Amino acid sequence: MSGAQRILTIFGTRPEAIKLFPLVHALGADRRFVSGVCVTGQHRGMLDQVLEISGITPDHDLAVMQPDQTLDALTANLLVGIGTVLDREKPDWVVVQGDTATAMTGALAAYYRKIPVCHVEAGLRSGNIHHPWPEEINRRIIGPIAALHCAPTETAAKALLAETTDPATVHVTGNTVIDALFWITERIAREPGLAGGLAGLEQRFAGKRIIGVTSHRRENFGDGMRSIADAIRRIAARPDVAVIYPVHLNPNVRGVMDKELAGLDNVALIEPLDYPHFAHLIGMSHLMLTDSGGVQEEAPALGKPVLVMRETTERPEGIEAGTARLVGTDADRIVAEAERLLDDEAAYAAMARAHNPFGDGRSAGRIVELLAKA
Ligand code: UD1
Ligand code: UDP
Repeated sequence: MSGAQRILTIFGTRPEAIKLFPLVHALGADRRFVSGVCVTGQHRGMLDQVLEISGITPDHDLAVMQPDQTLDALTANLLVGIGTVLDREKPDWVVVQGDTATAMTGALAAYYRKIPVCHVEAGLRSGNIHHPWPEEINRRIIGPIAALHCAPTETAAKALLAETTDPATVHVTGNTVIDALFWITERIAREPGLAGGLAGLEQRFAGKRIIGVTSHRRENFGDGMRSIADAIRRIAARPDVAVIYPVHLNPNVRGVMDKELAGLDNVALIEPLDYPHFAHLIGMSHLMLTDSGGVQEEAPALGKPVLVMRETTERPEGIEAGTARLVGTDADRIVAEAERLLDDEAAYAAMARAHNPFGDGRSAGRIVELLAKA
């Protein structure tokens, strides 16, 4: 394997795993690379669901998750754990994705060892360090460290250039989330059983319009989550809708949703879905209510309107195209915006268009070529 570049891809949470499995597949199939995977286990169950469906067996698993861990403890454990792996593996490049604590510490540990970093989904900025929190700072820390910036869109590339990033290191690759979505959609088409587990809910809610919900943002913990729960209760009081809500495993989310929403006729609070079932849920939903980053990218690609329950977004492309709307966490506003889409056919039709500004499904291949040239 002389001359092959040794790439270590580091990830730890569900969205990183989803957005990096297409790249791990592509690197593993390319003889120009020796590809290794280090998972930090920042998430456990939600990460393992993705590893299983994508067929990835990590070379390292740091198993750092502790129940309701503080950001300080999480960050410290990640940094030390990743540093140890880097000292052992001594890769030529480290790949990180997005803006989690795993991504930030992965980049920092690589920087401490002068290992170049490739940042996938680089250049997202909300301009507000408290929304999303702590992700806006995590990705800004990765910015000056990275030697290769894979920006999903022109907007993201421009944000990096505005921060005086060397233009030669900034490339618009598209977002690998679309590669992942195409991959999973094709798998489901071949093996429908992979996403068959929602049949019971489809039967229970037959004739109603489904609203798919996810929420987990830290800045929404407490009042924001209670307000979101209040909005969901009010929307689900309509006889013509039903809510399917796979609840994030963070206890700050679960605690509120279980208390506020359990037992309502038109609300199914369910465990986090594996990726094929979640893609199927978006497909069967009339609209999505979410504070997730990834869902803001996937739902427009599948032609579903998204109401984004956040104050700011680093993904303006969906808003600008009119397929997503920023509604914050005020319950009255969420209810009003949802009702508008439920009752006004023209408003719904204007948002329900397949729209794919985030990628064409070939992003991983572009990133592989950039790494090969680097
Ligand atoms: C993390 C990321 C966030 C990302 C989100 C995606 C940080 C600081 N936060 O937030 O950027 O958008 O993931 O979902 O990097 N838990 C489980 N099982 C799991 C996952 C989580 O039990 O599979 C529980 C644990 O108690 C854990 C807690 O959730 O301590 C919080 O997990 P953590 O990764 O710290 O934060 P998230 O809110 O998941
Ligand atoms: N997702 C999933 N199962 C679920 C909810 C979400 O597989 O029950 C997927 C979704 O398709 C998207 C990703 O998880 O690709 C989004 O992760 P999350 O919302 O946890 O994080 P964020 O994108 O906000 O960082």
